[in-house]
Amino acid sequence: MDMAEALSPDESTPGSFKASEADRQNVAQLATILDLIASKPAVQHLKAWVLAALAPAEGESALDVGSGTGEDLVELTKRVGPSGRAVGVEPSPGLRAESVRRAEGIEVVDGDALSLPFDDASFDAVRCERVLQHISEPGKAVSEMARVLRPGGRIALVDTDWATAIVYPADPEVLSRIFAFLLAETANPYSGRTLRALLADAGLTTVDETAATWLEPQSGAAQGYLTMMATTCAALGVITAPEAEAFQQGLAEAAARGSFHMSLTMYAVAATKAPAG
Ligand SMILES: C[S@@+](CC[C@H](N)C(=O)[O-])C[C@H]1O[C@@H](n2cnc3c(N)ncnc32)[C@H](O)[C@@H]1O
Repeated sequence: MDMAEALSPDESTPGSFKASEADRQNVAQLATILDLIASKPAVQHLKAWVLAALAPAEGESALDVGSGTGEDLVELTKRVGPSGRAVGVEPSPGLRAESVRRAEGIEVVDGDALSLPFDDASFDAVRCERVLQHISEPGKAVSEMARVLRPGGRIALVDTDWATAIVYPADPEVLSRIFAFLLAETANPYSGRTLRALLADAGLTTVDETAATWLEPQSGAAQGYLTMMATTCAALGVITAPEAEAFQQGLAEAAARGSFHMSLTMYAVAATKAPAG
C-alpha cells in the first residue's frame, strides 16, 4: 500500500493498488493520488535517477512493471524511439485505460509481476517503482524481472519503507494505532530495505543505490495526506472521531507555528544481469 491507499477520503471507495482488487477500483481517485505523489520532489528525484541508471537507448526494449498512470512509460517510450519497444505491465484495467488516454501510442499490457507475459531475455532495461510493497511474494516478482531481462541488461527498483514514516506532533498512542493499521494493510511494508537483497537473490548485481525523503511542507498538515488519513482511520474505526479531530487540530496548530513534520523515505537500487558466457 502506498500511504495514499489508506488515505482515501471516501471509505466507500477505498483506493487500493492491490492487483487482486484491480477490477473494483476508483480509478479517478487512484490516478489523482498517483499524480499527487509523483509531484513530490523526492519522487521526481527518484524517477530521474532511475532513468539515468537505466539509460534506455534508441532501439532498445524497456519494461515498466506496475506502470500505473504511465508517466514513466511515456519517458521510456521517448527514449527507445520508434525503432525500440517500451511496454508497461499493469493489472488494473482502469489504470491501463487512463494511461492510454493520457498518452496515445504507449503500449500497456495486462499482467502480473508474479508471472510476466514475456519470453526470457526480452528486455534491455526493466524498472519497477513502488509496486513491490503491494506484493506478498516480492522475491518471485523480482526473479520474474530477472528472467525477462537479457544478459547484460539493467534493472532498477524503487520502494518505500514504511518504518521511516514520521509525523510530529501527535498523541503517540493514536499515532501508533494509525501506523499499525497502515502496516497491517500493506502486503510488504518494509519493501524499501529489502531491494538489494531481492536483487541479489535473483542473481543480479547491484551497481548503485540512492534514497530520497518525502518531506511534507507545512501546508500539508492541514490539507494533505495526513488529514485524509485521519478521516479514513476514523471512518474505519481505527481511531475515534474526537481522536481524529484532535490529531488534525494538533497538526494544524503546529503548522501555524512552523513546527509540523512529516517524512517518509523511499529507496532506489540499480543492478545488472551478468552478460552471457
Ligand atoms: C503506487 S502505484 C505505482 C505506479 C507507478 N509505478 C508509479 O511509479 O507511479 C502501484 C502500481 O502497482 C500496480 N500493481 C499492484 N500489484 C501488482 C502486481 N502484482 N503486478 C504488477 N503491478 C501491480 C498497481 O496497479 C499500481 O499501478
